[in-house]
Amino acid sequence: CGIVGVLGNHEVAPILVEALKRLEYRGYDSAGIATVNDGHLDRRRAVGKLINLSDKLVHEPLRGKSGIGHTRWATHGAPNEGNAHPHKAGPVAVVHNGIIENFGRLRDELQAAGFTPETQTDTETVALMAQMFMDGGMKPVEAAFAAIDRLEGAFALAFLFDGEQDLIVAARKGSPLAIGWGDGEMFVGSDAFALAPMTDRVTYLEEGDRAVVTRKGADIFDARGHLVSRASVRIEDNDGQVEKGGHKHWMSKEIAEQPSVLADVLAHYLPGGQLTFPGDALDFTGIDRVVMVACGTGFYSCFVAKYWLETLARIPVEVDVASEFRYREPPLSERTLAIFVSQSGETADTLAAMRFAAGKCRIASVVNVAQSTIARESDLALPILAGREISVASTKAFTCQLMVLALMAIKAASDRGTLTQDALKGRIAALSSLPALVSQALAVGPQINDLAQELSEAHDILFLGRGAMYPLALEGALKLKELSYIHAEGYASGELKHGPIALIDSHVPVIVMAPSDALFDKTISNMQEVMARGGKVLLVTDAAGAEMAGHGCWGVIRMPEADPMFAPVLYAIPAQQIAYHTAIAKGTDVDQPRNLAKSVTVE
Ligand code: G6P
Repeated sequence: CGIVGVLGNHEVAPILVEALKRLEYRGYDSAGIATVNDGHLDRRRAVGKLINLSDKLVHEPLRGKSGIGHTRWATHGAPNEGNAHPHKAGPVAVVHNGIIENFGRLRDELQAAGFTPETQTDTETVALMAQMFMDGGMKPVEAAFAAIDRLEGAFALAFLFDGEQDLIVAARKGSPLAIGWGDGEMFVGSDAFALAPMTDRVTYLEEGDRAVVTRKGADIFDARGHLVSRASVRIEDNDGQVEKGGHKHWMSKEIAEQPSVLADVLAHYLPGGQLTFPGDALDFTGIDRVVMVACGTGFYSCFVAKYWLETLARIPVEVDVASEFRYREPPLSERTLAIFVSQSGETADTLAAMRFAAGKCRIASVVNVAQSTIARESDLALPILAGREISVASTKAFTCQLMVLALMAIKAASDRGTLTQDALKGRIAALSSLPALVSQALAVGPQINDLAQELSEAHDILFLGRGAMYPLALEGALKLKELSYIHAEGYASGELKHGPIALIDSHVPVIVMAPSDALFDKTISNMQEVMARGGKVLLVTDAAGAEMAGHGCWGVIRMPEADPMFAPVLYAIPAQQIAYHTAIAKGTDVDQPRNLAKSVTVE
């Protein structure tokens, strides 16, 4: 979901739609705006892409210089126009990200007081509560604050009021929200990126903050109602990052950027070839266990890193998806290091898992968005420096996460004395060679494109990998299903015979990710088991692997040679390209796959 609000000096509807466009990458299924014109509050909403809202505004324009807007990713209630934001109740319009957990009770209370909700949404109850308080004689700000006081759950909110041309009330609890400062204009946004064309100065609200925004500025109150001063920061709107630069999709641009962002990670953590991590929090000497927690693609980064940390640093590692970790309530001690990996730094499950761990063990985060809540609340935040990732499916953030985690594994090995100096140097050299190798790997794109049509006709696709390539097989399958809606699963190669082999026939492509490492022969045996049953194998391997095992495969993708330990970083490239080209062959929406959101700030 995305929120924008503008108190401007010009007609605001086109500005709101433009700002919402910049939030499109987050994923949404309906959109809407509300404005105040000559004191009159009105709104327009439409299902589907923003173009539908723009069309509607052509036929039914909305005038006014103050407004709020929203892109909605459905939680409570189907993605139809009635459930789209802004929600309106009498003189109040509200846009909301997050989930109001006690909305059922609030609804009962509202109904008992004679208010009739028109939708199934949790957000409408917020507007109705504010309306109820205004009916009771409260002024808009007071009524909005009183409504906010009653809310449980996670939210970012912006309120607009009938008769108030110079007022937006904003609030943040559990979902990010920023206030933008202009020249006689003020802005609100759930993502500073949306505000970048209008201002480069923003203030991030803190947990529990509410803000009364007028064209003169913003008064910010903390959760206890005290007027507080919050610093503003300059945001950069690097044009290079917000243009597709000749690429048809953001995803293609982000795949292509990997050699350069991986080099940035190396430059940051290995200046002059010397491993450099900030702070003491990452001293592995006093640690006897690592737990790694994330969602989606970040979870697979953790899973790959488990192999690295256990092999190189001989430290036990548990990995868990955040939604399980937080409720499993695992025992943690001072000798545990908990690492939370999140591109956005705002994923609700990961944040809640981190808050569960806070105070019980040491906490590090591996994040892309430096200003994010997860970065700010962890003892040590390690940036992955991937730059803005816009396509919903994560690509460069994944490989940058892997690079940071690989460097961390080497640091752990060094702290714990589990590798000789020569071995450490060898591993560092192997990592340093990855940007160039990734650059070479990008050349397999056209070959994958040639196979994509046939892949796009499959109903099921399996990915196999062994060792650290097993989590990569999982990530390859996730990427493919996200983008092409083809059912795909990743398996540990050795596990195939214990069940999934029942699926194999000539219609099921099996993608085997296998550099010619110590386990290669075993993986190839598993591949033969597939071929013996008529399975169609696409082998992704290096030149030696292709020589040994390429015969009889449906396709062979030749990758550059790399240290097998870090091959997942390199083999992520064909995994991404398989998903990308198959999606194009299928005609799906590559950058904004259906039902998905870039950053999921609800549980
Ligand atoms: C969403 C995205 C995934 C992402 C996951 C975790 O589901 O669609 O691509 O991997 O969230 O996001 P995070 O920002 O915490 O890495």
